[in-house]
Amino acid sequence: MEMETKKKVLSCIQPSGMLTLGNYLGALKNWLNMQEEFDCTFAVADLHAITVRQEPAKLRQQIYSTYALLLALGLDPEKSTLFIQSHVAAHSQLSWLLSCYTQFGEMSRMTQFKDKSAKHADNVNVGLFSYPVLMAADILLYKPDFVPVGADQKQHLEIARDIAERFNGIYGDVFTVPEPYIAKTGARVMSLQDPTKKMSKSDENLNSWVAILDSPDDIMRKFKRAVTDSEARVCIGEEKHGINNLIGIYSAITGKTAEQITAEFEGKGYGDFKLAVGEAVVEELRPIRERYDAIIKDKAALEVLYREGAQKAEYAARKTLAKAMKKVGFVL
Ligand code: TRP
Repeated sequence: MEMETKKKVLSCIQPSGMLTLGNYLGALKNWLNMQEEFDCTFAVADLHAITVRQEPAKLRQQIYSTYALLLALGLDPEKSTLFIQSHVAAHSQLSWLLSCYTQFGEMSRMTQFKDKSAKHADNVNVGLFSYPVLMAADILLYKPDFVPVGADQKQHLEIARDIAERFNGIYGDVFTVPEPYIAKTGARVMSLQDPTKKMSKSDENLNSWVAILDSPDDIMRKFKRAVTDSEARVCIGEEKHGINNLIGIYSAITGKTAEQITAEFEGKGYGDFKLAVGEAVVEELRPIRERYDAIIKDKAALEVLYREGAQKAEYAARKTLAKAMKKVGFVL
C-alpha cells in the first residue's frame, strides 16, 4: 500500500483572473513536481476571492478557467485530489470554529491584511480580516505534512500552525501541524518592465507580465521589450535586476545554473539572450495552452472531474471537522 505511506501536501490557488508566468514558475510547476512523490490535494480557493469585490459572471469564468488550467498543467485527478474550495462546506464550517480560537490582535498584525485594507479602503470587510482563518481551515482539514507557499503566504501558514497547536493544546491531537515546503527550484519572477517589483497581473503596463495562456507572439514581444541594463553581459549582478530576472526565468525552465547560462551567452548581446528566454517560455507554455484550449471547451467533462474531486476532498475534510466539533462539545 504505497499510497498510504506517502507524505501529504496541500495547497490552494485563488481564481484571480489570468495566472502569470510568476504563478507558474513560483508555484504551479512545483505542484506538478510534487504530484508523484506526495499525496497531493490542490484546490481553487474561490471563497478567498470574494474578500475583494468580484463581478459574478467573471468570477464564475475564472473558477472554471483556473480549474481547467490545473488539469492542463498535467495535474492528474487520478493521482491528486483537485477540487473547488466552495464545494466542500467543511471549509466554511471549520473556519468558524477556528475563528473562535484566533485572537483579534493576531489577525490585526497580518501584513497582507494591512496592505489589502490600505488598497481597498472602501471595502475593509470582516472576511478580509479573517482570511487567514479560512486558510488555516483549508490546510488543517486535510492534515498535510507540507504546505508549499510563497513568501507572501508564509505569515499565514505560521498562523495556521499557531492555531493548530493551540487547539491541540486544549483538546489533544486533532490537527497535524504542517511544515512549509520550500521547493528546490522555483523562481520569484519580477516585472519585465520594472524588475524591482514582483510580476503582477494587476500591473497597468501590459508588457510587464506574461500570462500562462498568452500567445507565442505576445510572449516574444514582451521578452523583446524586457528592461535590461547597459553593461551588455549576461551574468548575475547586484544592480542588474532585469538580467537577474531573465536568468532566473531561463534557469527555472531549462534547469541550467546561472554560470552555465553566462557561459552559453558569452560574447552575445542582450538581444540574443532575450530571444532565447522568450523562446524557452513559449515552448514551456505551448503544450499547457493547447491542452487548456481543449479542456475548457468541454464543460460537461470538466464538471464530472470537479464533482469527483469535491467528493474525495469532502471525505477527508468531514472526518477532521467531525473530530474537531466533537472535541469542542457539539452534539453530532
Ligand atoms: N491565500 C493563498 C494565496 O492567495 C491561497 C490559499 C488559500 C492557500 N488557502 C490556502 C494557499 C491554503 C495554501 C494553503 O496565494
